[in-house]
Amino acid sequence: MDEQFLTVKDAITQRRSIKKFNGQPVDREDLLEIIDDAIWAPNHGNREPWRLVVACGGELFALHDLLRDLTIPKWQDLSSEDLAKQMSKFTSPGGYVFVIVPEDARQKERLEDYAAASSMLQNMQLLAWDKGIGSCWKTPGFLDNPKFREALKVQPGERVISMLQVGYFDELPKAKERKTTADIVTIFGE
Ligand SMILES: Cc1cc2nc3c(=O)[nH]c(=O)nc-3n(C[C@H](O)[C@H](O)[C@H](O)COP(=O)(O)O)c2cc1C
Repeated sequence: MDEQFLTVKDAITQRRSIKKFNGQPVDREDLLEIIDDAIWAPNHGNREPWRLVVACGGELFALHDLLRDLTIPKWQDLSSEDLAKQMSKFTSPGGYVFVIVPEDARQKERLEDYAAASSMLQNMQLLAWDKGIGSCWKTPGFLDNPKFREALKVQPGERVISMLQVGYFDELPKAKERKTTADIVTIFGE
């Protein structure tokens, strides 16, 4: 068995979404190892309804340019300092994983596939956390932008459900409050 640092319980309860990364690169080997394990998520009919586009290392520069063009249309009018500031939310993560799911025409299958891909995404977040790598699952509007889809070679009938930013961080965010079990559970028949 691989060495494990966190218990499953600790990984689940101690993980935080990281929105402030420190710019340290994430090794491709680490990212691919996380994916190797994350794909053991449950999925109905063993459809494995996902494919992933990964960026870390050298290809990040082209991705940053794409994200700049999509989100700051008048970026050329900005000073290099202002542009760097506005772009830091994209340039500070050490890597990206875009998760693409098929959009089955049948609602049941489409929802199952989204649920399965979501389980796989949570696996990635927990496995990354176990390696000391933070992550944030983001769903910006540009995931559906035709220009963005074209750059990722997303096919008709597919949808990008997540931009997972991964990277190292200096500050651990405070836990977001959760409802208690008593708040959300009723016992059957009561
Ligand atoms: C489907 C989904 C979409 C999300 N989209 C965004 C997003 O677009 N931007 C963002 O900052 N966080 C996003 N998040 C992260 C949530 O803000 C975060 O999980 C929540 O605040 C709870 O914090 P925690 O993960 O640290 O417990 C998303 C999470 C999920 C599951």
